[in-house]
Amino acid sequence: MIKVITYGTFDLLHQGHINILKRAKALGDYLCVGVTTENFDVSRGKINVRQSLMERIEAVKATGIADEVFPEEYVGQKIDDIKRNNISIFAIGSDWKGKFDYLNEYCQVIYLPRTEGVSSTQLRSNKPVVIGTVGSDPSMTKLIKTAAAVDGVEMGKVFLDEEYFGNRKSFTTVYDSYDKMLDKVDAIYVATRPEKRYDFIKRAIEKGKHVISNSPMALSAEKYDELTATAHRNKTVLFDSIKTAYMLAFSRMILLVKGGLIGDVKSIDVTCTSLENYDWLVKTKYFSSFTDWGAIALLPIFKLLGLGYKKVSFSSLGDDNLDDIFTKVNMEYDGAIATISTGLGVKSEGDLRISGTKGYIYVPAPWWKSEYFEARFEDASNNKPYYYKSDNEGLSMELVHFARCIRSGDGNFYVESEISRAVADVMELYNEKK
Ligand code: CTP
Repeated sequence: MIKVITYGTFDLLHQGHINILKRAKALGDYLCVGVTTENFDVSRGKINVRQSLMERIEAVKATGIADEVFPEEYVGQKIDDIKRNNISIFAIGSDWKGKFDYLNEYCQVIYLPRTEGVSSTQLRSNKPVVIGTVGSDPSMTKLIKTAAAVDGVEMGKVFLDEEYFGNRKSFTTVYDSYDKMLDKVDAIYVATRPEKRYDFIKRAIEKGKHVISNSPMALSAEKYDELTATAHRNKTVLFDSIKTAYMLAFSRMILLVKGGLIGDVKSIDVTCTSLENYDWLVKTKYFSSFTDWGAIALLPIFKLLGLGYKKVSFSSLGDDNLDDIFTKVNMEYDGAIATISTGLGVKSEGDLRISGTKGYIYVPAPWWKSEYFEARFEDASNNKPYYYKSDNEGLSMELVHFARCIRSGDGNFYVESEISRAVADVMELYNEKK
């Protein structure tokens, strides 16, 4: 029996894919198809894939051409697959000509003609999700610049609710009213200061617009519940933006810890500080180190210890401008404790330590955008480094996911709604304590 193998992303399955599958199958008796996982695609710089791995695998299976369909997860897997499955022919489209000659050592390599005039990239570029941005956070400049490289989304329309201190070069249209912008977009990115977010989000979802918002979206669980209920009624996506959740290293680290790598988690220590936006934050008056950093800092704690903390206490330090330039938070769980330090205009080592009964995880500063972490043990020879590449500190992946949720209508979020609600709840407790 002649076994043939081919690989691809097979996003938004199109005629070109069907043709190549047929051509590959015609070379032998049995066709194996490897479909690239999202993580593998990200590591090779392909971030804009629309469909999930399962959807793409199902689509390839549904053609009825392949005899076997499986995920392709890592560099070097092709060699393993060919050897293990006794493959005679590796076939791939001519756009890859020469790139897989190294496989000739293991089987015959055939480059097949590519179908002209159709590609996933082309299909993805149809009708992007148009996202307007409201706010005055100087990070809007970076956000819109990053979005320009993400296909499937279009950003640049802006409503500035306050004076803007960032660079406006990437803005395409600046509206003089929020409602006027709402009429021109599919979705809104909310980058206002925290106490204004609820209102802007509500107005957008009431008009049937999808929303992605800096976190926290609301400053109490009650307000958050109101927003989710309204979004549900209006069938719009409500998406909490915590970019860290979309960093591959972060999500892998959470899975490894949940899988028992360091035993039972007993303590989590998180520090997040910055000096960068201090002047802007002072102008907005409302900001505090905890409202600015709290959502990010709470993410690993809620992901690993859950939402059922028994006690939380805050100690804050102010200066002449802000009543919280540094906050320390203690959280008590049954059998575990967590501490958070947040700073604005105060700098410290922004690392993350997760202590367990068998070892600990160390994520170096700035942990919230780190592509690297280490598992460390009593016997240092067992220590292990982990490295996972991500683009733009998780922002590109986050925008891709947001657009995907809008298109598919499901809520496959990396920041679960329960976490967003719990963050809003902690914000309320913190404001009460103040
Ligand atoms: N393919 C083809 N003809 C096309 C598009 C793709 O023969 N018009 C082949 C590729 O050469 C590859 C396989 O289909 O062997 C899977 O390719 P994939 O990268 O998933 O599809 P593309 O449409 O090329 O995707 P993208 O635009 O994201 O690169």
